[in-house]
Amino acid sequence: MIKMTQYLILQHPGHNRVYYNVAGELALAELQIAGSKFETPCRAVRLIEIAEIRYLSFEVESELSSNDIGVLSRLSFVFAIYKVLNIDGEECLKPIAIKDYAYVDAKISSLLKYPGKTNELFTKMMVNVALLSSNFNYDTNIQLLDPVAGRGTTLFEASVYGFNATGIEIESKSVHEATVFFKKFIQTERYKHQNDKRQISGNNKKEAIYVQEFEFAPTKEMFKIEELKRKLAYVNGSSQNVESYFKANTFHLIVGDLPYGIAHGNSSTHRSASITRNPSEMIEQCADGWFKVLKKGGVIVLAWNVFVAAKVKLEQILSSHGFEVLSEDPYANFEHMVDKSIKRDIIVARKI
Ligand SMILES: C[S@@+](CC[C@H](N)C(=O)[O-])C[C@H]1O[C@@H](n2cnc3c(N)ncnc32)[C@H](O)[C@@H]1O
Repeated sequence: MIKMTQYLILQHPGHNRVYYNVAGELALAELQIAGSKFETPCRAVRLIEIAEIRYLSFEVESELSSNDIGVLSRLSFVFAIYKVLNIDGEECLKPIAIKDYAYVDAKISSLLKYPGKTNELFTKMMVNVALLSSNFNYDTNIQLLDPVAGRGTTLFEASVYGFNATGIEIESKSVHEATVFFKKFIQTERYKHQNDKRQISGNNKKEAIYVQEFEFAPTKEMFKIEELKRKLAYVNGSSQNVESYFKANTFHLIVGDLPYGIAHGNSSTHRSASITRNPSEMIEQCADGWFKVLKKGGVIVLAWNVFVAAKVKLEQILSSHGFEVLSEDPYANFEHMVDKSIKRDIIVARKI
């Protein structure tokens, strides 16, 4: 018989109790997706309680590989990892060191507080689900797009992973605040950086769309080497026009938290004609463009408010634009209440 080893994960207490309470099932689904990518076959992924504390538990043949511990260390809910040992008939927990992977300090996405911000642990979970469901891995030089970037939580989480991150956001105020914040952050952290603003679309001044792009690296030496520096870019425009901003097959991952159909989701701007309150309308208008700019083997993950649009409707739209929607367990287990007016879910789809 194959000898199995049990591991336990203590879940991050989170920055907000509401999220921690719902996050058990979400964590379980994220771990199941990660487990299917482990080099070491993994089974019996479940939630358990020991002395009234919740843990995620799983078993692997022999031991986790170093790569598997790398994957595990990045999961959004992981606070501490233990290997279960049996010593003289007693179960003991041996702590396993979490791998340090951060290109940028993880505090970056928790510093800003504003109405309409997407919870950073939830955002990290979406980035992981996208990557772990794609044909790529954490060592790929990932290009990630958030097509509804707001003030940048997804972009900041992506830069913690050392991914290159690009956001499209229609509200100029959000773009301004996010770029001012990011510049200040990398200056304070003493990263070597350079930033510029250039036009990427539009035939005249009125139609001009600009991208603000930062190149950065932790040290001067790393900044000199193309593969070691990273980019974060913001386009102040509409996702409906994504194809006029980027070439086909540019991005490995697309991750975004769609407008919720309530006050902070949309507001009036000079571009209000492009703003839509309904996630299904938005997906309908953007899906062609998103499909084109995504690479083969790439994945799109979108969060939205189920009270405003049913999942089956969004699945139909994405499928009709060529995506392969992942709808089986554990992908069906991400729905959760945020507050009285928001029941959130994620939809995950691949370009094959
Ligand atoms: C739920 S918020 C995203 C919040 C973001 N994840 C954060 O934490 O800051 C959705 C965003 O989509 C933007 N939006 C709405 N329609 C858009 C469009 N057509 N193109 C680009 N952005 C759009 C809204 O202005 C809003 O900032």
